[in-house]
Amino acid sequence: MNGLFITFEGGEGAGKTSVLEALTKQLIEKGYDVLATREPGGIKIAEKIRHLILDPAHTEMDGRTEALLYAAARRQHLVEKVIPALEQGRIVLCDRFVDSSLAYQGHARGLGIEEVMKINEFAIENCMPDVTLFFDIEPEYGLKRISANALREQNRLDLEKIDFHQRVYEAYQKLIRQFPDRIHVIDAKKSIADVQASALHEIEPYLIEINRNG
Ligand code: TYD
Repeated sequence: MNGLFITFEGGEGAGKTSVLEALTKQLIEKGYDVLATREPGGIKIAEKIRHLILDPAHTEMDGRTEALLYAAARRQHLVEKVIPALEQGRIVLCDRFVDSSLAYQGHARGLGIEEVMKINEFAIENCMPDVTLFFDIEPEYGLKRISANALREQNRLDLEKIDFHQRVYEAYQKLIRQFPDRIHVIDAKKSIADVQASALHEIEPYLIEINRNG
């Protein structure tokens, strides 16, 4: 595959979704062929699974069920959307990927990072990102940002207590130590403009190999 697979990771309110949108526009203006997508979702079947997982009414959902559903949504999204784009040499910007499962289900839910990695290996068959941007903000700040944004819908995971989000943050710190070459840390407490500039700076070295249009 000759495209470039970039994933965006972080806790709630890290601003990664806004930066992903801005960066997509910026890369398209520079002449790159970009596909912006998100997990869980991005295609019909995975959006249905997303709805099932995130519905605040589904309080009885078991942790392993949750992990399997995320992995199933990931599989379908990968084969239907991400892999074909990478085969066409496109840049894929994906809001969340396997690290989210390792952090949220593996560590925060207590299923074990290794265990959750196993089911994800089955789902993704070695298709790991070329680069991952981690938007670094402590959960207390991130959650404040979310509650300040009245338009944002609260999902089942947003409603978890602060210590769940602390564990998510801890897990990402572990993953950064485990995959120092792949995961690049971005200070997400700065303004959106600064965060966007740092994100572009981090991916620039990877863009050299990618063809632009025209
Ligand atoms: P979303 O509204 O997209 O949140 P965000 O804007 O923070 O990305 O909801 C996705 C939620 O699903 C979010 O709380 C993180 C969680 N999640 C997992 O727990 N495991 C996963 O594998 C993925 C992809 C997401």
